[in-house]
Amino acid sequence: MIIEEREMGQCWRDLADVLAAGIDRVVLYGPPGTGKTYAALHAGVARGPAERLVCTEDLTTGEITGTWMPVGDGTWRWREGPAIRAWAANGGRGGRLVVDEVDRASGDALSTLLAMTDSLESARWRHPETGEWTRPGPEFSVVMTTNVEEFDDLPSALRDRFAVRLRVDRPHPDALECLSEDLRGPALAGSLGDESRRLSLRSFYAFDRLRRHCGASRAAELVFGDARASAVLDALRVAALS
Ligand SMILES: Nc1ncnc2c1ncn2[C@@H]1O[C@H](COP(=O)(O)OP(=O)(O)O)[C@@H](O)[C@H]1O
Ligand SMILES: [Mg+2]
Repeated sequence: MIIEEREMGQCWRDLADVLAAGIDRVVLYGPPGTGKTYAALHAGVARGPAERLVCTEDLTTGEITGTWMPVGDGTWRWREGPAIRAWAANGGRGGRLVVDEVDRASGDALSTLLAMTDSLESARWRHPETGEWTRPGPEFSVVMTTNVEEFDDLPSALRDRFAVRLRVDRPHPDALECLSEDLRGPALAGSLGDESRRLSLRSFYAFDRLRRHCGASRAAELVFGDARASAVLDALRVAALS
């Protein structure tokens, strides 16, 4: 099945348009498993790999900007964190910083994240080793991702800072293309239901792989659970007929 244009989803077109327009601060939110992190890492990243920071409740400022590390013989060196590396990437022009699961960051870590992702004009940071003030390169960009369903569930400080927020509500077409052809329609349909009935793209990836080894019935039980396996298998049969 070719994923038709209308099924691509407005959200992915919006992201492409926003990045093409040079918007460099974006939040992607919505159900898990649609390709937000993948897009944050790759979309509009022309040079060099993106820096990725996965937030947890325990995230520290040091994990964002950097920490002192012992290098032997009693000396310590400053090891830059992902935010500062992204500021300076590509020979100082700046690269992409991906802040994943940003809803989990809080307190000092969230404040530091907001400071590091402030506008190019405002963001400043003093290198603890050299004492020099640095600023992000002109091409520094930030994509934050979160699996919260509603943007209002994010801390207000964050909501105010990122003017462009896109709710991603369906898998990226390229992600669907990674599945065997017969699974693409059911995987798309499964991702669109409400939260309690939704089936994630990741589960279809696992099913696709597993069924080659142990057949569709057992793979469906293992991945989707006894209660939902037969519904998934029925959906596959219907899709095959059409
Ligand atoms: N554009 C894409 N091309 C290929 N694979 C993709 C694409 N987008 C997502 N995927 C795959 O789909 C799965 C879910 O994507 P991920 O970005 O982790 O989702 P989310 O961040 O929305 O939870 C991952 O295995 C990822 O590698
Ligand atoms: Mg993610």
